[in-house]
Amino acid sequence: MMQLFIDTAEIDVLRELSATGMVDGVTTNPSLIAKAGRNFLTTIAESCEIVPGPVSAEVAASDAPTMIAEGEKLAKIAQNVVVKVPLTWEGLAATRALADQAIQVNVTLCFSAVQALLAAKAGAAYISPFVGRLDDHGVDGMELIHEIRTVYDTYDFDTEILAASIRNPAHVKAAALAGADCATIPPGVFRDLVKHPLTDRGLETFISDWAKTGQSIL
Ligand code: E4P
Repeated sequence: MMQLFIDTAEIDVLRELSATGMVDGVTTNPSLIAKAGRNFLTTIAESCEIVPGPVSAEVAASDAPTMIAEGEKLAKIAQNVVVKVPLTWEGLAATRALADQAIQVNVTLCFSAVQALLAAKAGAAYISPFVGRLDDHGVDGMELIHEIRTVYDTYDFDTEILAASIRNPAHVKAAALAGADCATIPPGVFRDLVKHPLTDRGLETFISDWAKTGQSIL
């Protein structure tokens, strides 16, 4: 099943969207935490209560020993915390150490299939290729999802591909067609997923035609 995550640190928004019953997980990053302007650890704890699925919380350090210590602390917040680490040699060392303790890791800031290969070898539970930022850079971001799918399937890696930096519903469709396991979606784009002008127009017609029948179901 393709899982839909929300890319936000806004608790009220998360609560509203999770009421759709369609939210399988959450991702945050330091920029989203800064934008929300609330305590990081509290935000993660609350997110984990609202959404029972994986909630990614990103380390702040750049060296492996501190990333590991931060990851161990974050993982203690709730059983559904996933520790997010950057795709650097230090981050990969931290991934291996945390995975060896059965802590799930989401390796973030992935921009190439070779980086994704390294993350899988390090034991990452999730890899986060940044589709939109590659598009912004003049490269087809979705091509990266296809490449990673091929590499992971060829070598039977069970690291899940979490399409990130999603900018519009077309990205979600393309990620699904490319075989991404999950997509993390900003709240505004998530709200837009259900919209189609023909759905609205068709519903208006059905409602007015139903009124003409003078009937009621209940
Ligand atoms: C999620 O894991 C990423 O941090 C996020 O999708 C990045 O999105 P942006 O490129 O819109 O900041």
